[in-house]
Amino acid sequence: MTANIANIAQSPVLDLHQVEIRAVREEEIHCVADIITRSFHFDRGWMGWFTPLFKLGIAEDLRHRLRSNISGSSHGKTQQQVCSIAMYTDLGKSQVIGTIEVGTRITNYRQPTPHRYVYISNLAVSRDFRRQGVARDLLLDCERLTQAWGYTELYLHVMGNNDRGRKLYEKLGYQIVAMETVWSIVPWHRPERLFLCKQLG
Ligand SMILES: CC(C)(COP(=O)(O)OP(=O)(O)OC[C@H]1O[C@@H](n2cnc3c(N)ncnc32)[C@H](O)[C@@H]1OP(=O)(O)O)[C@@H](O)C(=O)NCCC(=O)NCCS
Repeated sequence: MTANIANIAQSPVLDLHQVEIRAVREEEIHCVADIITRSFHFDRGWMGWFTPLFKLGIAEDLRHRLRSNISGSSHGKTQQQVCSIAMYTDLGKSQVIGTIEVGTRITNYRQPTPHRYVYISNLAVSRDFRRQGVARDLLLDCERLTQAWGYTELYLHVMGNNDRGRKLYEKLGYQIVAMETVWSIVPWHRPERLFLCKQLG
């Protein structure tokens, strides 16, 4: 009981006006890596031994993707890649409380007419700040970017067993366009992955 009260007391109630959504800066990439590591449980159980390595890998991977974002155009449209953060400022102190990545990808090169589409990944919000509309605002910001780039659809993947994620996307108007089985070394554990799309008005 006491622990519950303490947990509630520690979770700040957000005024979303104090949350700024903007592109991540180089010096903030380690905060993004930290949120992703914790949100996707790379800090739990045996994986906890390798947490610093996971963080380093995620940060370097992101840095590389953002630096290679200037590779010009192909298949009719320019390549885009943005990592946005939700930055919360209270009493003069700022902290990164959420993150999302959005960028263009090319459909299979072997298809007769490969084309670019917009894909969202790595959406995560710090545990202390969940259920206060931060993910929704990050996703809406991606919609604005998508339209600014001249696209009318957004795509993303969510695991079939990620109820929170599924509810969030459903609420924002995403629809399932494909169900995929993820390959796994364990034959009896082949999780389902959903491919979702949102058409922008
Ligand atoms: C999924 C996640 C990003 C949601 O972030 P969030 O900031 O808490 O989400 P929001 O507050 O913007 O929620 C918007 C809506 O999504 C749904 N939702 C979000 N979290 C939910 C939960 N735990 N249970 C049920 N519905 C939920 C609700 O419909 C909610 O609206 P409501 O609060 O008015 O009912 C966050 O829980 C997270 O980081 N999870 C771990 C990483 C992850 O799964 N990322 C998604 C990968 S595809």
